[in-house]
Amino acid sequence: MHESLIARVGRRAAGVSPSRLVHLAARVREVVAPQPWPFDEAAVGLYRCEQRGRGALPHPPYLYGLLAAARTARAVGAEEITALEFGVAGGNGLRALQEHAESVRSWYGVAVTVVGLDSGHGLLPATDPRDSPFALPEGEFAMDQAALAPHLDGTELVLGDVGRTVGPLMERVASGELPPLGFVAHDLDVFTGTHATLQAIGALPTGAALPRVPMYFDDISGYPYTTATGERAAITAFNEGPERRRIGQVENLEQTLGGSARWANWPRHMFVLHTFDHPDYGAPEKVTQMDLGLRSTLRSPSRP
Ligand SMILES: C[S@@+](CC[C@H](N)C(=O)[O-])C[C@H]1O[C@@H](n2cnc3c(N)ncnc32)[C@H](O)[C@@H]1O
Repeated sequence: MHESLIARVGRRAAGVSPSRLVHLAARVREVVAPQPWPFDEAAVGLYRCEQRGRGALPHPPYLYGLLAAARTARAVGAEEITALEFGVAGGNGLRALQEHAESVRSWYGVAVTVVGLDSGHGLLPATDPRDSPFALPEGEFAMDQAALAPHLDGTELVLGDVGRTVGPLMERVASGELPPLGFVAHDLDVFTGTHATLQAIGALPTGAALPRVPMYFDDISGYPYTTATGERAAITAFNEGPERRRIGQVENLEQTLGGSARWANWPRHMFVLHTFDHPDYGAPEKVTQMDLGLRSTLRSPSRP
């Protein structure tokens, strides 16, 4: 006679020690309901937001980036930050950034000034082969300004080639007219514009940006993007500049996030701009330390 699956599992479980069962339950939970790494307050905040049952979060990397920026802002005593989206197109990302900025303001008391930058007419003519002109034609992703305008609430839209607009915008950040740079979403798709934005950001005076600025790069996965083209090539060019500024990838971020983010691709697109010579680089951030005490569940070494 066949034994039922439940009976078989029950019979096996009866012979398993309680500590092994706890370990197994934790492993099952990690697969069914992944938990965020408690060390990363932004990961915990993102997970809680998803758990509040608001449905799928729009643009979760934008919320994660703002939460990470708010953590650094509080460490250095900044009450306001600037968040940018390069490449607005229809405006779905900018609207999500605006919405998440309001959440971060109400939860953490950090005010976020949101600015979106776009040509207004879609992709510009390619001026460099690293813009992948064979796949990204001029005029693609054109914006409908009339449709977007009613959805912007306090969010500024800067129109024109970022090669010309990003410099004056950074001057406003440097002069204090805009708060310190806190988070940047890069979604221009191409090398030329992204290179221009990173060079302008890199030229900001120390102190006009948070010591660590989370950066999301949307276009680094899949064809036609490679390590030698588009946004990834612009990161490489930036990192060939002065050593005091580096853009580093947050490696294996997805392994430290909870909920749906554990299985998402976007965490592989999260980077951080470090300003190593920032006077407040070492200002302590709020982190939950891991318990590294000896666990009682570890087996004692066998006696000789
Ligand atoms: C993929 S779309 C952005 C999508 C948008 N973030 C969203 O959430 O839907 C890329 C945008 O980058 C803009 N763009 C590319 N190069 C630019 C440049 N040099 N100056 C200004 N805008 C540029 C294009 O106008 C296009 O709208």
